[in-house]
Amino acid sequence: MTRRKKIYEGKAKILYEGPEPGTLIQYFKDDTTAFNGQKRAALEGKGVLNNRISEYVMTRLNTIGVQNHFIKRLNLREQLIKEVEIIPLQVICRNIAAGSLSQRFGLPEGQALPRSIIEFCLKDDKLGDPMVAEEHITAFNWASPQEIDDIMATTLRVNDFLCGLFSGVGITLVDFKLEFGRVWENDYARIILADEISPDSCRLWDTATNEKLDRDRFRRDLGNVIESYTEVARRLGIMSEMPTVIQGGKGA
Ligand SMILES: Nc1ncnc2c1ncn2[C@@H]1O[C@H](COP(=O)(O)OP(=O)(O)OP(=O)(O)O)[C@@H](O)[C@H]1O
Ligand SMILES: [Mg+2]
Repeated sequence: MTRRKKIYEGKAKILYEGPEPGTLIQYFKDDTTAFNGQKRAALEGKGVLNNRISEYVMTRLNTIGVQNHFIKRLNLREQLIKEVEIIPLQVICRNIAAGSLSQRFGLPEGQALPRSIIEFCLKDDKLGDPMVAEEHITAFNWASPQEIDDIMATTLRVNDFLCGLFSGVGITLVDFKLEFGRVWENDYARIILADEISPDSCRLWDTATNEKLDRDRFRRDLGNVIESYTEVARRLGIMSEMPTVIQGGKGA
């Protein structure tokens, strides 16, 4: 038997070679990190939850024409995806002030922003993912002006759709991070959405109570991380496909 080839191991996921050229298998780990990897823990069941939540969100986005890398879920922790040439940017979209935006501008967390704001950070852990301007992106050739336009338009569509999806289940989408990549067709590159959309990459607050249901529970030692991710999955109506150990919570 030959062992499958590991392409990359990151903080939260592993990429393996896929069954066909141009495909990869994305494996969701339980490892959880914060503050650029300085704080770490393994939270049992997180990978299973994020795999399923990301599948659900990517599938729904596909139905409104937001092309993305998701092909199909393979098992509890793995999904088949299209391989892309990752654009080295974190694309952040914010509706409500929180986290680093609140710190930078002295805005109280929870204050609604005058409009949705898109920010770009360079994906570089060693540099602490510094924020960059469009000028840097085009000067250093990380993406072309046309690609930046595509990315921004898609990000706003994702934001509109996800705001509605989550508000329908009593969750406020405060902000989120996307990654995009190129797929090449002959000499032409098309940009599609990649990576994951999950409580690791979004700030999600219970609309009624403002309780945090995302990775801030881990960052800020608020406890009940898995319970909160489970609540997001439950509200999205996808808990029935989860193993009983996660469905029943601790002790089940
Ligand atoms: N469809 C795809 N094709 C190729 N690479 C992808 C695809 N989707 C996501 N990736 C990359 O796979 C990796 C996923 O691993 P993980 O999220 O654990 O990385 P990470 O530790 O957060 O580091 P990074 O800063 O690179 O994201 C990321 O580097 C991400 O950019
Ligand atoms: Mg990542």
